[in-house]
Amino acid sequence: MAGQLSPIDTAKFVAAKRAVEYIEDGMKVGLGTGSTAAWMVRCLGELIREDGLSIIGVPTSTRTAELARQVGVKVMSLDEARWLDVTIDGADEYDPDLNLIKGGGGALLQEKIVATASDRMIVIADATKAVEHLGAFPLPVEVVPFGWQTSKALVEEMLDSLDVIGQHSTLRMNRDAPFVTDEGNFILDLHLQRIGNPRQLSLVLNQIPGVVENGLFIDICDVVVVGHGDGKVEVTDINEGTHEEDTIQFADAPNLFADF
Ligand code: A5P
Repeated sequence: MAGQLSPIDTAKFVAAKRAVEYIEDGMKVGLGTGSTAAWMVRCLGELIREDGLSIIGVPTSTRTAELARQVGVKVMSLDEARWLDVTIDGADEYDPDLNLIKGGGGALLQEKIVATASDRMIVIADATKAVEHLGAFPLPVEVVPFGWQTSKALVEEMLDSLDVIGQHSTLRMNRDAPFVTDEGNFILDLHLQRIGNPRQLSLVLNQIPGVVENGLFIDICDVVVVGHGDGKVEVTDINEGTHEEDTIQFADAPNLFADF
């Protein structure tokens, strides 16, 4: 099946397949959101069905919860699970320090809460997500609907004094209406081009009263697993200071997604 995938889907699939090797029986696992994380949820479903793996999944969005149930992953809320062994999630960008931009899919708030409540966060990505400096991908900022235009103006004014190139933001839309997150909030996408000091930007953004959270994940990610279209994976562990390469054999995954 993987052999019939496009190169980009192959890259996402092999990253996901390699990342689920970190999962052990009995673990509580944060389940990320997005197209790469969806491969990971399917891989977990496969391990549960084929190998009898027993885990609890804590989803970071309603759509991930739905997929998890479909593929047979037992789902629990974070309040029930309290603390997790590991979270596996995608990213929109990662830099050499494994700082991230997330929230392209609009789930950044739950993703950040869940990743922060985990012993370890593993990011799975294709190679296009690697950047030298964060910021080419618009930075999502979740704001409460009340007074969002004032929050937008305050965010833009604040950007004036920070180390970024672009300063304008746009309200994320879903057709003709504002996009609404699982928490009932709006998202501003900040078009910054280059973020000189992600840590400072994250702290300052979160000082604005209407801002709920921003999509910068600083010092949260421990491991990045990058997949390539030829089946190669690269695993970087920032705590261990290691970088390993591996190849996922497609033949090892016959009919993996035949059910979907
Ligand atoms: C969801 O809100 C995001 O943080 C995603 O994890 C991120 O956008 C990566 O998505 P893809 O795996 O679809 O690129």
